[in-house]
Amino acid sequence: MPPFRLQVPLAGRFLPTRPAPVAIRSNGKKLVESARFAGRESLTRVSGEGVCNIAILGFGTVGSAVGRILAERAPAGLRLTHVCNRAVARKKVDWLPVTVEWTEDFNTILSSDVDLVVELMGGLNPAGDCIRSALLAGKSVVTANKQLIAHCGTELIDLARRSNCQLLFGASVAGGIPVISALQEGLAGDELLKIHGILNGTCNYILSQIERRGISFAEALAEAQRMGFAESDPSEDVDGLDARAKLAILVRVGLHANVQPESIAGRSISSIEAVDFDYASQLGCTIRQVSSAEWNGKRLLAGVRPALVPLSSPLARIQGSENLVVSTGKYGRQTVFGGQGAGGSATAVAVVSDIFAIAGRKVDGCGGNSFDCGISPTVSAEFSTRHYLRFTVKDQPGIIAALASVFSKADINIDSVLQKPGYTKSRLPFVITLEACKSSKVEKALQRISRFDFLVQPSLNLPILN
Ligand SMILES: NC(=O)c1ccc[n+]([C@@H]2O[C@H](COP(=O)([O-])OP(=O)(O)OC[C@H]3O[C@@H](n4cnc5c(N)ncnc54)[C@H](OP(=O)(O)O)[C@@H]3O)[C@@H](O)[C@H]2O)c1
Repeated sequence: MPPFRLQVPLAGRFLPTRPAPVAIRSNGKKLVESARFAGRESLTRVSGEGVCNIAILGFGTVGSAVGRILAERAPAGLRLTHVCNRAVARKKVDWLPVTVEWTEDFNTILSSDVDLVVELMGGLNPAGDCIRSALLAGKSVVTANKQLIAHCGTELIDLARRSNCQLLFGASVAGGIPVISALQEGLAGDELLKIHGILNGTCNYILSQIERRGISFAEALAEAQRMGFAESDPSEDVDGLDARAKLAILVRVGLHANVQPESIAGRSISSIEAVDFDYASQLGCTIRQVSSAEWNGKRLLAGVRPALVPLSSPLARIQGSENLVVSTGKYGRQTVFGGQGAGGSATAVAVVSDIFAIAGRKVDGCGGNSFDCGISPTVSAEFSTRHYLRFTVKDQPGIIAALASVFSKADINIDSVLQKPGYTKSRLPFVITLEACKSSKVEKALQRISRFDFLVQPSLNLPILN
């Protein structure tokens, strides 16, 4: 297998480059911001005439933003030589050097002197096959492709290692927030026990529109689609598939467990209504799509679901395309990473940082850290939390008694009952909150409750996070 072919002689190599996240202590917690692009000095050439040739594969939102950054601030020695895209003629821009070769044929890149392929097509294939061929041809790879890394990361990193190349994927989770490198490097000294956060901007947008304007989920989704914040098929975002893939990657790099996205329970935000925000606010909370994973003995609790979060928590303040990741370590306790989780430029910053990191040093496979953790735990969604249950009923005597009897038989304690005035008796929403208990107990009780004929729609069950 050809060795890593960065054409920089040893004496002229780039110095180590991965920008260190800026840690600021705030209320005893560390806040790591994504404002970390240290400037040209972060990639310092010592001497020599070596170059690193780069090809961008997929010139869309992120690919063109990467091209723009490389055009404006790539240090001497880093050279964009190829852009590959289908029907490439319509992609050509006048702000890249005329020396850049525009191609539809990835084989042109494979047989060229490109050192580093930047995969920004998305999807499992052909992106996966292109990455495999690039690695087999001795070319290192940077990708932002969360689905591919979540599903095939172990295999691809192993291939990178065997090919004496590198594969970095810092932009695959939380866009411009350097959370992958922070978990792999900045927090390597801690033993992480839990990672949770908000990983999908589309859900933020939809939930905050329902909250602010009292509109329905369907209206908020249609608006997000009109404004380009949601795909025409929104299920990746609203049903939690996108966040599951990102969580699976965070679990691998932070909690050192091999987890497939499909083994993580995902619940849709589509059943959230404006009334849930009213009730949540009475409880001092708002609602967000929260991804969380934590060790519980040898089992891993992992899930992506809408949840009530206290208004005082950093999760409640996340808006639009912002993401937030909170890691909890045995020694360092909580560290919070926040910033732009999506968008061409923010994501491109993370991609370019990986390019700089690869150009600047030659380390084992995955930036010096292992992605294949060796541990494949049983994954369960059996979190023990307080619960928010919203029932929409045709009003009649005995409803509370009937529900209380089911909960009592299930050994579940009711914490409070909330009912706002002003709703019609034929479609009356009210809320019961439960004391902390396992989610499976609540689900079983709700199955029994679903047989009651006073329910006019399925009940909503959300965890209340502390
Ligand atoms: N956008 C974000 O905010 C963001 C954030 C984090 C991570 N990412 C990840 O970054 C990657 C790129 O996302 P993006 O938003 O830039 O996507 P995008 O705008 O759809 O760009 C993808 C580009 O790849 C091209 N392409 C797709 N399939 C191809 C194929 N089979 N052969 C040749 N070219 C192909 C597309 O060409 P056409 O124009 O012909 O479709 C398009 O130019 C994805 O993995 C995504 O998950 C994106």
